[in-house]
Amino acid sequence: MLDTDLSATGAQDGLANTDIIDEGAFFSCRVTEVEHYTETLFRIRTARPPSLRFRPGEFIMIGLKTETKPVLRAYSIASPSWDDELEFYSIKVEGGALTSKLRYIRPGDRILVGRKPVGTLVTDALKPGRRLYMLSTGTGAAPFASLIREPGVFEQFDEIVLTHTCRTAAELTYTEQLVDAVRTDQLVGEVAKDKLIYFNSLTREDGPRKGRITSLIESGEFFRMISREPFDPDQDRIMICGSMAMLDELKAMLEARGFREGSNAQPGDFVVEKAFAGDGV
Ligand code: FAD
Ligand code: A2P
Repeated sequence: MLDTDLSATGAQDGLANTDIIDEGAFFSCRVTEVEHYTETLFRIRTARPPSLRFRPGEFIMIGLKTETKPVLRAYSIASPSWDDELEFYSIKVEGGALTSKLRYIRPGDRILVGRKPVGTLVTDALKPGRRLYMLSTGTGAAPFASLIREPGVFEQFDEIVLTHTCRTAAELTYTEQLVDAVRTDQLVGEVAKDKLIYFNSLTREDGPRKGRITSLIESGEFFRMISREPFDPDQDRIMICGSMAMLDELKAMLEARGFREGSNAQPGDFVVEKAFAGDGV
């Protein structure tokens, strides 16, 4: 396809004519910004195809072209649905087929972005409730980076509690900076100052809050630290994103407390999504 084919490039929507190239199964999107946090974590922002619509919390396939077939992986969309750009928060896996190359991406380069966002970490899959908990570990914070920038989510709940647990303090940088930005944001800042609670903890370094979120919930320490009552299926709704083991443990804990898992077809009290496939160890 030629870059001069404006109808297929998005140029008529005010984008530079090569920022988005429609490649059929994928969009090829220009990278606008890359920020590295640690040796293993970074974020990428890209131009957004105007026709790409998604619900906050969904994931999509992204990837890179290679000499043979493209290498593609599932990624949560970390930007809110109103944003002109797309944001992804990424791990760097040593030897990983995608991220061993993606880690070197720079502004001006391109990534492939799929056409079909999907997923269950959406408010549509939850029954109405009073308080929404978003429990994350590692890159599992990515879908919540989208949700906590959505005015509609703050309208649906009286309070939103985002938790992020990582091994080290440096790995919390993304959510710490994000929450600071959300609290001063023009669109959601005022409401976020009242309604958004951010809780983080570390597991392999000392810090003000130490321990896995599972242990802190089980011991009750989490609720004491945020000065809230333990989970209550009558009013609390919960979204969870982390490793398979983390999801399994939290799911069992919630079901034992009377929570029912929801889906797009049948909304419930909690929803889960894995932050990555594999064991992650
Ligand atoms: P892969 O061959 O895909 O992975 C190699 C191994 O690395 C895996 O077996 C696992 O043990 C480990 N691993 C992979 N991803 C992670 C991770 N995120 N955290 C910790 N360990 C990991 N990754 C992101 O970085 N950001 C996201 O927003 C994101 N969203 C996802 C949403 C879904 C629904 C799923 C299923 C996965 C998601 N992933 C996300 C993981 C992503 O699809 C890739 O696995 C990751 O980008 C690494 O790709 P790779 O080809 O380099 O290595
Ligand atoms: P830990 O350091 O005790 O393993 P990772 O960096 O491996 O993706 O892990 C991200 C965070 O998730 C770490 O703080 C890790 O704690 C925590 N974690 C790992 N497994 C579980 C689990 N089964 N339940 C709760 N938290 C977990």
